[in-house]
Amino acid sequence: MTMNDEASKRRTFAIISHPDAGKTTMTEKLLLFGNLIRSAGTVKGKKSGKFATSDWMAIEKQRGISVTSSVMNFPYQGYQVNILDTPGHEDFSEDTYRTLTAVDSVVMIIDATKGIEAQTIKLFKVCKMRGIPIFTFINKLDREGREPLELLEEIEDVLNIETYPMNWPAGMGKRFLGTFDRDGNQFIQFNGNGEERYIPYEELNKTEHEALVSDPTYQAAQEELSMVEEAGDDFSLDAIMAGDQTPVFFGSALAPFGVQTFFDTFISMAPEPAPRKSTEGVISPDDPDFSGFIFKIQANMDPAHRDRVAFLRVCSGKFERGMRVTLARTGKPVRLAQTQQFVASSRDTIEEAYAGDIIGIYDPNAYQIGDTLLEGKNTFEYQELPQFPPEQFQRVTAKNVMKAKQFKKGIEQLVQEGAIQLFRHHRTESYILGAVGELQFDVFKQRMQNEYNAEVELEPIGDRVPRWLKPDQVDPSLYDERNMLVQDRSGNYVVLFKNEFSLNWFKENHPDIELIDLFDVN
Ligand code: G4P
Repeated sequence: MTMNDEASKRRTFAIISHPDAGKTTMTEKLLLFGNLIRSAGTVKGKKSGKFATSDWMAIEKQRGISVTSSVMNFPYQGYQVNILDTPGHEDFSEDTYRTLTAVDSVVMIIDATKGIEAQTIKLFKVCKMRGIPIFTFINKLDREGREPLELLEEIEDVLNIETYPMNWPAGMGKRFLGTFDRDGNQFIQFNGNGEERYIPYEELNKTEHEALVSDPTYQAAQEELSMVEEAGDDFSLDAIMAGDQTPVFFGSALAPFGVQTFFDTFISMAPEPAPRKSTEGVISPDDPDFSGFIFKIQANMDPAHRDRVAFLRVCSGKFERGMRVTLARTGKPVRLAQTQQFVASSRDTIEEAYAGDIIGIYDPNAYQIGDTLLEGKNTFEYQELPQFPPEQFQRVTAKNVMKAKQFKKGIEQLVQEGAIQLFRHHRTESYILGAVGELQFDVFKQRMQNEYNAEVELEPIGDRVPRWLKPDQVDPSLYDERNMLVQDRSGNYVVLFKNEFSLNWFKENHPDIELIDLFDVN
């Protein structure tokens, strides 16, 4: 098998959703397909107390590295599937956003009873700005939810993306009969206990299906479907690949219903690893030289184990354990000896990997987020990872003024590593930390103490709406503590608006000032 074949078999994706929409349940079903787990209920085990899908997770737990941030990989129908976890709940952080820079496509799960929710919107924006193809699974059809048409309309309005329903549900909750499979020209009947019955359209006229076909719920759905076929957008693979259209699947991850059809279709349609932009032009996945970039660094919270793991996305060539590569930023050589594959079907240690794969490499405190690793004489660097807008801000000071030096060094290094963002108040120069999720502050505080022996005091200044200013439009007299003027790490001026209301008020009163939302520029 050539390198090209290996790369083109990879399907590397993340599942995005708002907490409780069903991401874990869906992941678990996919792992069952991959024979990675033997029974459902083992991934999360909130109730059962079992937690592991693999040895690696157990190791993670022992060492105190978060269990939630992992990569699962397994072979499926000739493909090599890589699923990257996007931590939600209290683990939601900038890492969740960064993970999306390492995937080739995304599955978006929406709870049919709730529609689009806040966290989905944020993650979706990142996908949209990166032009990542998005496949939608509308979940929980086994419960009374919102009307399918209404849900599609909401996706189109709120997320500004075309929808193409791949199937159409007949009823929901107790009246859920199944789905019309538009692609497969069949009706998939729901039998309640996870059973699916595939009935080709031409067989629906048989008497044995009379009860189904004459059911008013079935008939209403059929009418709706004809409407959708007439008035809806045409299917366009190009639009899907550009992230302008999303194929939508209705089903239930828990039942499960429609999961297999969804996954099979998704896997066959989802893109293989794409060429990536670098400082020396576009690098193809079948370029023979190994290259990759680091999108996440996970530090160990346990002071007895200070080691860190850097997550690297392979972008070209072949990775082999023990190989020598160059860290592009410094030009220094490194040997990739201690490597981990995540939740591998076999063992922890990974011997080889290809474009699309994610590997964990031991980090002797040498790497930064966005770092490029290269084989051979190459010197390029992959495009810098975007800066994502934080939402929560806290003022930080050293508890012990005698330790100002450690304090400064710690902050500098953690910021450089990408653990948290740093801002300085434009007048007082006080330090303000910005994070996407609460967890980042906790990690920061602990690491400052453990690794730099600097105890810190954090004082929340609330959730804020940051907007970047153009350098020639900075007028400090317009801002106060409510709408705070600060500078980011690179010296750019940023206004931390108290809330959306303050932002809108400001916009109305200063229509000439351009306020830049990072989600729109990256
Ligand atoms: P998350 O990872 O996105 O946060 O969601 P998760 O899969 O944990 O699902 C959240 C809750 O929704 C779980 O119930 C889960 O069983 C339920 N759920 C997921 N998919 C479906 C579905 O298709 N239909 C129905 N009816 N429920 C679904 P829970 O009681 O909160 O969690 P658990 O304690 O049972 O794990």
